[in-house]
Amino acid sequence: MASIVVTGASDGIGAAAAVMLTGQGHQVLASGRSATKLGAVHERMSAAAPEGAVVPEPLVADLSSLDEVRRLADEIGSRVDRLDVLANNAGLTTGRRQVSADGFELTLAVNHLAPFLLTTLLVDKLQAAGGRVITTSSVVHRLGRLDLDDLQLERGWWRLRSYGNSKLANILFTSELRRRTGIAAWSFHPGAVNTALSRDSALTRLVKPLGRYLRTPEQGADTLVWLATSAEEPDPAAPYYADRRPGRTSAAARDATLAAALWDRTAALVAPFTR
Ligand SMILES: NC(=O)c1ccc[n+]([C@@H]2O[C@H](COP(=O)([O-])OP(=O)(O)OC[C@H]3O[C@@H](n4cnc5c(N)ncnc54)[C@H](OP(=O)(O)O)[C@@H]3O)[C@@H](O)[C@H]2O)c1
Repeated sequence: MASIVVTGASDGIGAAAAVMLTGQGHQVLASGRSATKLGAVHERMSAAAPEGAVVPEPLVADLSSLDEVRRLADEIGSRVDRLDVLANNAGLTTGRRQVSADGFELTLAVNHLAPFLLTTLLVDKLQAAGGRVITTSSVVHRLGRLDLDDLQLERGWWRLRSYGNSKLANILFTSELRRRTGIAAWSFHPGAVNTALSRDSALTRLVKPLGRYLRTPEQGADTLVWLATSAEEPDPAAPYYADRRPGRTSAAARDATLAAALWDRTAALVAPFTR
C-alpha cells in the first residue's frame, strides 16, 4: 500500500485518479482548493476503498498562493513519513492574463511554480520512499516557447502560449528533477479529456455537445495511475508518456540546457516563499 498525494483531486482527471488509486488499496491524500468539492470526491473514494480501509481526510490548499503550497507541504509532512507518489496534477488555463496574489502570471503560478515548490519541499519524503513524481503535462507543450527573461508573458500573453509554456515547463522540470535528485519522475499527456479545464473558453462552450467524443476522466487518468503504481518502472529515459508509452516531445522539451536554466530561474522565483 503506497502513500500517494494527488493535487487537483477535486475534479476531472485528478478526482478520477484519486478514486482509482484508492480502489487499488492505496492511501491517497487528495488535495484541492474547494473543501466542498473535495468532500464529494472523498465520498467517491470511500465507496471505492477496500472493505475496512479508512480514506485520509483531504487537504485543502489554493495552489495559486505559494504560502499555501508551503503549508500544504508541511501538512503532508505531518501526515506521512515517506511519500511513495506525488502526482502534480492541478492545472488551469485562463481566458485573459491574470496575476496571482503573489504577483505571478496565474497559469505559470498554478501549473509550474506550485508543483516545483511542492515537490522540492517534499524531496526528503520522496527519497525516503524511493518515490515517484508524476506531473500532468499536455501535448500542448508543443506550443510552448519559453523566454526565461519573460516567463510571466508580460509581453504578448495569449492563452495557448501561457498554457503551452506551463506544460513545457512540466516536462523540463521532470527531466531536471530526475537529474538533480535522482527521484523517479515522469510527466504525461492524458489525451483530450471531457473535464472543466477550459470552462471559461467560448470555444469550449461551443464544442461542449461534442464532449462525448472526448475521453472520460477515468480514461484520462489511466496513464497517471499506471505511472504511479506499475510494478515495473517505466522508462527512466523517457520523461513524457502518453497512453502508457513514451510520447513524442518538442525539441524544446528535450533541451537539457533550457531545463537546467529554467530550474535555476524557478528556484529564484519561489525562494522568498520557502520559509
Ligand atoms: N482535460 C484535458 O483534455 C487535458 C489535456 C491535457 C492535460 N490536461 C491537464 O490535466 C490536469 C487536470 O485537468 P482536468 O482536465 O482534470 O481539469 P479540471 O477538471 O478543471 O481539474 C483541474 C484541477 O485543478 C484544480 N485547480 C485549479 N486551480 C487550482 C488552484 N489555484 N489551487 C488548487 N487547485 C487548483 C481544480 O480545482 P477546482 O475543482 O477547484 O477547479 C481541479 O481539481 C491539468 O494539469 C491539465 O493541464 C488536461
